[in-house]
Amino acid sequence: MRLDKYLADMNAGTRKELKTAIRRGLVTVDGKAVRDAGFHVTGEETISFDGEEIGYQAFAYYMLNKPAGVISATEDRRHKTVLDLLGERHRRDLFPVGRLDIDTTGLLLITNDGALAHRLLAPKHHVDKVYRAAVTGAVAESDILAFAQGLRLDDGLTAMPAKLRLLGSSPEDDVSFVEITIHEGKFHQIKRMFEAIGKKVLTLQRISMGPLVLDKNLPEGAARPLTEEEISALRSLS
Ligand code: URA
Repeated sequence: MRLDKYLADMNAGTRKELKTAIRRGLVTVDGKAVRDAGFHVTGEETISFDGEEIGYQAFAYYMLNKPAGVISATEDRRHKTVLDLLGERHRRDLFPVGRLDIDTTGLLLITNDGALAHRLLAPKHHVDKVYRAAVTGAVAESDILAFAQGLRLDDGLTAMPAKLRLLGSSPEDDVSFVEITIHEGKFHQIKRMFEAIGKKVLTLQRISMGPLVLDKNLPEGAARPLTEEEISALRSLS
């Protein structure tokens, strides 16, 4: 790949900043200054920028605690996106794994690993996605059963069996607090499942996706790289 792309992928700066730095001789390949941004590198070389070695990492993984009000897209003209929350200097090939609605909060994995994203999202792999929600009304045993059997949604499609667990309730406010486990990610799936049983989702937060659990110390709007343990747990999904 081009030398400027290598450095941009590794977060060393914007393509424009890097072109200037390269022209000024600040970048060395195997110890020699290279002033051509299009110089071809394979990732086997020792590449340094301003004296600092920049090793190549093929894949990057971040956990984001998504706040409400941002959209799960790579770019948007009207709204802030989840990638904007990673700051100026993130690599250009990142994308969010699946979509959370604009008003949904919680765990979102951001990566450039397409194969892993597919494994996490494809319903046939049955990766659990766990959400917590506040919903209107009282959740009854019959609702739990309806979720377990697979609900028919407003478009006529059936949602795969899902686990609904009552965590608590506030009868004076007519609100129930629940945990929902699903394997698929149909458009507005959880909201539509509750609609199908005559209830409205008031707040929705994702707390885990397979082995990846939302870090309680990560404030809403913040992101951090995954730990080695988290990455290997994700990679060991069958
Ligand atoms: N289900 C929804 O309805 N919305 C989400 O954001 C995620 C799951």
